Amino acid sequence: MSTPRVLLLGGHGKIALYLTPLLLARAWNVTSVVRNADHEAEILKLGSGQPGKVSVLVSSLDDVKSVADAQSILDKVRPEYVVWAAGAGGKGGAQRTVAIDQEAAKHFISSSFATPQVRKFLLISHIGSRATRPSWFSDADWERTNKLWSSILPDYCKAKWEADQLQTALAAVTKRKEPTRHFQSINLRPGTLTDEPASSKVALGQVPIGERKISRENVALVADRLLARDDTEGWYDVLDGDEPVDEAVERVAKAKIDTIGDEDVEGFVKKFGL
Ligand SMILES: NC(=O)c1ccc[n+]([C@@H]2O[C@H](COP(=O)([O-])OP(=O)(O)OC[C@H]3O[C@@H](n4cnc5c(N)ncnc54)[C@H](OP(=O)(O)O)[C@@H]3O)[C@@H](O)[C@H]2O)c1
Repeated sequence: MSTPRVLLLGGHGKIALYLTPLLLARAWNVTSVVRNADHEAEILKLGSGQPGKVSVLVSSLDDVKSVADAQSILDKVRPEYVVWAAGAGGKGGAQRTVAIDQEAAKHFISSSFATPQVRKFLLISHIGSRATRPSWFSDADWERTNKLWSSILPDYCKAKWEADQLQTALAAVTKRKEPTRHFQSINLRPGTLTDEPASSKVALGQVPIGERKISRENVALVADRLLARDDTEGWYDVLDGDEPVDEAVERVAKAKIDTIGDEDVEGFVKKFGL
């Protein structure tokens, strides 16, 4: 198979800046999408001495207002893998959160599933993005999740949940309608992010949250390992923990551990009329 090209949306984000060199070290090519041309040089520098090639596409996700807008970027870049690492970051109020975290993300999800060349889509979501209490959450974990939704970040939670539901529904429908197509739909769900250097140790899969957070660099390591395998798909909750990243990804992939719990996937399919 030819060298994969990764379309990295939100290329100047903190996680994306950690992830880019990891992907280039695999001799993959990366097209990093940024909205500010001043960020181009910093990203191109990440390619120095790496076997993969990095390029920058200056384009604002604010302009991605339809599936056709996202499709035109896919047609230009022609990626095999798509990574959503963007986010409005709570700036610009509810309107921007909906425009970026929900609408633009959904447009890239729809266009990626509709593009036969795309084989993997990794969406960075968050550990509180769910509607149903999973069996492994403690009372405190569930209370914290409900508080995030009701009072701490309600607009953000709703926006991310819309994108997650669409990705999950399309993954289910694609398996049914195109059983021979290889498409890995990966929903990576970190807890609260920190700027701590990577410990390279995580709690991955069905894990209670407790007081744990996760370093952005650890998230990038896990994203890289999940993308590098051909047997990863579904939801992956992740926090800082005690298990080396490579062992954690191997364990969870081999055991096909999915953190979707009892979510109503058929309900998602109906909701989007798929
Ligand atoms: N914060 C948390 O605790 C937390 C927890 C779990 C999951 N997450 C998720 O983690 C992901 C990334 O985290 P992070 O720390 O790497 O975030 P980040 O540093 O804020 O990166 C987000 C990137 O999105 C880009 N972006 C925003 N609006 C854009 C637009 N209109 N056009 C193009 N790019 C745009 C930003 O561009 P600029 O560089 O130009 O601003 C930024 O580079 C997000 O999906 C977030 O939802 C966050």
